[in-house]
Amino acid sequence: MSAIKVHDKYFVPYLSEEEIQHHIQEIAAKINTDYADKKPLFIAILNGSFMFAADLFKHIAIDCEICFIKLASYKGTKSTGQVVTPIGLDTDVTGRDIIIVEDIVDTGKTLNHFLPQLHNQQPTSLKLAILLHKPTATVYPIKIDYCGFSIPDKFVVGYGLDYNGLGRNIRSIYQLQENEA
Ligand code: IMP
Repeated sequence: MSAIKVHDKYFVPYLSEEEIQHHIQEIAAKINTDYADKKPLFIAILNGSFMFAADLFKHIAIDCEICFIKLASYKGTKSTGQVVTPIGLDTDVTGRDIIIVEDIVDTGKTLNHFLPQLHNQQPTSLKLAILLHKPTATVYPIKIDYCGFSIPDKFVVGYGLDYNGLGRNIRSIYQLQENEA
């Protein structure tokens, strides 16, 4: 496979469809074991997680509920700071086993703001299933329970992830070419 151009930048093949599917099946197997006697509520965060979520859920064999939300971020008051509002979260999370499904943790900022809000609603448990984690970019420490790949701090595109709106439909993951950064 060769480099692709998205907008003005070139990206090189990084994670193949096969590798991605293999790691997703491993995550699903762990979740199936860990939640064998439970009925978790998966909350997948749009837009980026749509492909990961769909492929993950195909391998979830336990009873579960699934919802997709969007996170809208805005500046709150001085005391509340950044506020992240979930759009489309129409199921009560109180007393539920929650698994957040997200494409990537980069700085960790988005989840760092959202998770405490979810905790306040007193779910029984709250875990994270993340496809990609950039540990060296993470500023806000986040405990990731199920992780597909740890990757370097380089921009990636494809498999749900976009570069300025393009690239989400690509079946595998590409990395920004070295001399493009
Ligand atoms: P955060 O910095 O962990 O809050 O990440 C916020 C969001 O930035 C992620 O959910 C992605 O949508 C986006 N993002 C971070 N890194 C990348 C990347 O390498 N490619 C595409 N999107 C990214």
